[in-house]
Amino acid sequence: MNSPAMQGLRLNTPAWVRNARLIAWVADMVALCKPDSVYWCDGSDEEYKRLCDQLVAAGTFKRLDPVKRPNSFLACSDPSDVARVEDRTFICSEKKDDAGPTNNWMAPAEMRASLQPLFDGCMHGRTMYVVPYSMGPLGSRIAHIGIELTDSPYVAVNMKLMTRMGRAVHEVLGVEGEFVPCVHSVGAPLQAGQKDQTTWPCNAKTKYIVHYPETREIWSYGSGYGGNALLGKKCFALRIASTMGRDQGWLAEHMLILGVTNPEGKKYHVAAAFPSACGKTNFAMLIPPQALGSWKVTTIGDDIAWIKPGADGRLYAINPEAGYFGVAPGTNTATNPNCMASLTRDVIFTNVALTDDGDVWWEGMGEAPAHALDWQGKDWTPHIAKETGAKAAHPNARFTVAATNNPALDSAWDDPNGVPIDAFIFGGRRSTTVPLVTESRNWLEGVYMAATMGSETTAAAAGAQGVVRRDPFAMLPFAGYNMSDYFQHWLDMERKLEEKGHALPKIFCVNWFRKGADGKFVWPGYGENMRVLKWMIDRIEGRTEGIETVFGIAPRYEEITWDGLEFTRAHFETVTHLDKDDWAKELQLHAELFTQLAYHLPRELSATKDRIEERLAA
Ligand code: OXD
Ligand code: MN
Repeated sequence: MNSPAMQGLRLNTPAWVRNARLIAWVADMVALCKPDSVYWCDGSDEEYKRLCDQLVAAGTFKRLDPVKRPNSFLACSDPSDVARVEDRTFICSEKKDDAGPTNNWMAPAEMRASLQPLFDGCMHGRTMYVVPYSMGPLGSRIAHIGIELTDSPYVAVNMKLMTRMGRAVHEVLGVEGEFVPCVHSVGAPLQAGQKDQTTWPCNAKTKYIVHYPETREIWSYGSGYGGNALLGKKCFALRIASTMGRDQGWLAEHMLILGVTNPEGKKYHVAAAFPSACGKTNFAMLIPPQALGSWKVTTIGDDIAWIKPGADGRLYAINPEAGYFGVAPGTNTATNPNCMASLTRDVIFTNVALTDDGDVWWEGMGEAPAHALDWQGKDWTPHIAKETGAKAAHPNARFTVAATNNPALDSAWDDPNGVPIDAFIFGGRRSTTVPLVTESRNWLEGVYMAATMGSETTAAAAGAQGVVRRDPFAMLPFAGYNMSDYFQHWLDMERKLEEKGHALPKIFCVNWFRKGADGKFVWPGYGENMRVLKWMIDRIEGRTEGIETVFGIAPRYEEITWDGLEFTRAHFETVTHLDKDDWAKELQLHAELFTQLAYHLPRELSATKDRIEERLAA
């Protein structure tokens, strides 16, 4: 009794689904996963409302106060399912070396054999949702289509906010179009007549987030949370897409994309890579200080960029996503007013606290409520927090919201042609060593700086926090292939672009997180980061000279506009100072990284390290 026909289960394929390969694949997956029913998502508002109502009835969603937070919901996850599980994430290429030393690897045949019994009957008692989505503007030459099969209605509604999801995708797909097949199950089948005992079904014991780069497939089992389950995001738009980019000559990057318009109306575009939970959403929505004049910053994307060379030799970027899955704790009207304005309605919150008046709260949002239910539904008061350290919101609590809620959304955010990139920015969270900003002298030095980037770990991934780990290009958990080959791909891009004769984007490194002797952040960050952006644009325009340092070109104190900010030369020195001993240790860590990545490591990178060492010793 395992084929859908034998089970008497009909696929109920709507007439608007015409892709033969898709229909055959769904039939196979139904035979494998054995759901009780199949539902083809059309992406309509009516469907979103219906599924949200269903989630409320099931207890997974709590509807927030319709006046305070219209059309918004709170979901609280199982305590075992709160972040991406990097140790359960696999790149199953045919050859181990193609996954490289930074990824967990298993041979595809072996992985398939492990997954087969898990997926067999995994959707018993549940509905399989067929979620069609486009990563990128529908029909754009830079966009690609994915189909996610999931037994989680929470995933289906999140995908509606996070991607271009629905019927129009089938129109682009047509009869023969290509798509990336993605199978997701919470891994909690129900016996006949059994009801969920929990509002967040998942598999507390067994989780697998699996990618087959050669066949471009994604299989996710056991988790319902974020990047583990919303498969368009990290799994497709980064891990699978990075391998597509390697094969097809483009870049899939863990980068936000900004439009920056100067007071004269000239517009620039920058793409910036930061590790998870390093303030990407804040940077993507920053409001420039008024004292700088009428600069304007607009958001194209807050997390991922797909970047393709254009015929003119420039790099064009799109945001493959259509929504934000941002970290809530720490977000408030002072640090990110645009984000708070985006969250006033139509939001799905996950793992924040529920206030007694039916609204949400998280640490760092503002004045604490006298009482709330914490993310696990337990009583929380400021007193309890003081006594026990209990957090009202989980540190990796999230909001899901459509990009169209963002008041600072760029008018070109949905442009199928993408926007031309003028500069790349790379930044980690480092309390010491790395200066506020430097510009690489050339493409190779920029690739070196990005490749050796380090950052203190955060709650976005399960595991220890605050430990410095090397996070090349902020892609450590997201590169779908060998990291050294990825570096080579970036190096090769220089030649490919130069052939077309347009100037390459500049490459900058930043660190907003340097601390003073008192252990406090010195740089004010947030909107004030505009001062650093302005210096970068002055560099692009050749208006400032900077000073040569061992690690590239840095600003002189006078080159940053300080109007409206009390930031003395002494402060500036604290955030820009290069300490020889710290850097000797840092270069030792670069050497360790290069030893780990020795297979296929581009020789130019080791040679660059040697040159920096010589300069440091001189
Ligand atoms: C994210 C992450 O959720 O990087 O964007 O973890
Ligand atoms: Mn991210």
